[in-house]
Amino acid sequence: MENKPLVLMTHDLPADWIGDSLDEYQIILGDNTQRGIDNKLKRYLPDASGIICLLDDPISSEIINQASLLKVVSNLAVGTDNIDVNSCTSLGIPVGHTPGVLTDGTADLTVALLLSVSRQLAAASQDARDGKWSNWEPTGWLGRDLKDATVGIIGLGKIGSAVGERLKPFGCKLIFNNRSPLPDQEINLNARQVDLDELLSTSDFICLHVPLTQETIGLIGKEEFEKMKPTTILINAARGPVVNTNSLIQALQTNQILAAGLDVTDPEPLPPDHPLYKLPNCFITPHIGTATVNTRRMMTGIAIRNLKAGIEGKPLPYCVNPEVYNLF
Ligand code: DGY
Repeated sequence: MENKPLVLMTHDLPADWIGDSLDEYQIILGDNTQRGIDNKLKRYLPDASGIICLLDDPISSEIINQASLLKVVSNLAVGTDNIDVNSCTSLGIPVGHTPGVLTDGTADLTVALLLSVSRQLAAASQDARDGKWSNWEPTGWLGRDLKDATVGIIGLGKIGSAVGERLKPFGCKLIFNNRSPLPDQEINLNARQVDLDELLSTSDFICLHVPLTQETIGLIGKEEFEKMKPTTILINAARGPVVNTNSLIQALQTNQILAAGLDVTDPEPLPPDHPLYKLPNCFITPHIGTATVNTRRMMTGIAIRNLKAGIEGKPLPYCVNPEVYNLF
C-alpha cells in the first residue's frame, strides 16, 4: 500500500476536470457500471480516508461503519439523500455536497421541460419524423401559453428562485410555497407566498424544487393531485420520490392533470417497460438537470475541494452536516 491517503471514487471523471488535484491520494476507482460501493471498493473500505460518490451511490451506515479511518464523504451532487448523513454525523464524518454551481444548469433544464411539455415538443417532433406533418394544421399540436399563466414553485431555495427569475420575463404570475417566510423573494420575484393548498388548486404549472427528506417523500400524492386543475402541468426536476409514482400515473391516465415533465423519477433509472413511458402526456428526461460541461466541471471541482479539506481535517467548504465540528 502506498503511503498516500486512500480515496475511493465510485465512478471515474474526465481527466481534464480533475487535473493534478488528486495526485496526492491513492485513488481506487469503482466499476462505472455498478452503483454504490462495489465489491472491489469494499475491500479498501477499512483503509479509506475519503469517498467521492455520485447521487445514485447508496452510502449506508453499514458502509460507513466499515470505514474506520474515514474522514470525509464527498458527494458529486447538491442532494445527499443517497447518504446516511445521520450515521456520518454520529461518527463525526463531514459530508460534502456541491450547491450553487448547479443552480443555473438545473433552472435552465426546468424551464426547458416546462416549455417542452407546454408546447408538446416531443410529440410534435416525433410526428414530423413519422411523416405526420402533412399540412399546416390550425388545431394541430396546440400548447399552453406561459404569458399570464400561474406558475407555482414549491421550494424557493436557490434553484426554485432561479426558475422564478427565468420565468418572470415570460409574463407568468408567480406564486410559491416554502417552509419559511421569504418576504424579500416576494419583492424580488414579484411572487406571492401562498399555502400549499392554494398553490395546488390555482397553478397552471407546478415546479418542484424541494430536497428529498422525510418530510418531502410523497409530498405530491393522490390528495394533492385531486386539488390540481385538469389543465395543470407538473414539472419535477428535484427528486423522484417527492411525487408518489402510482398517484402520478393515475392522475395522468385519468386526465386529472394535463401533463407532467420529469427529469427525476421513482424509481431511478426508470426501467424501459415502466408505465410512465406509455403515457403520451408524460415527458421524461434521465436526470440531466446539471448535465452541462461547465456545471459538471464545477461540481467536480467543489467535490474535490470538499474531499481535500476533509482529509486535511479542515472544515469542508460545502458541508451538509457542519454540526460535526461541534461534536468533539
Ligand atoms: C444534484 O446535484 O442533486 C442534482 O440532482 C444532480 O443532477
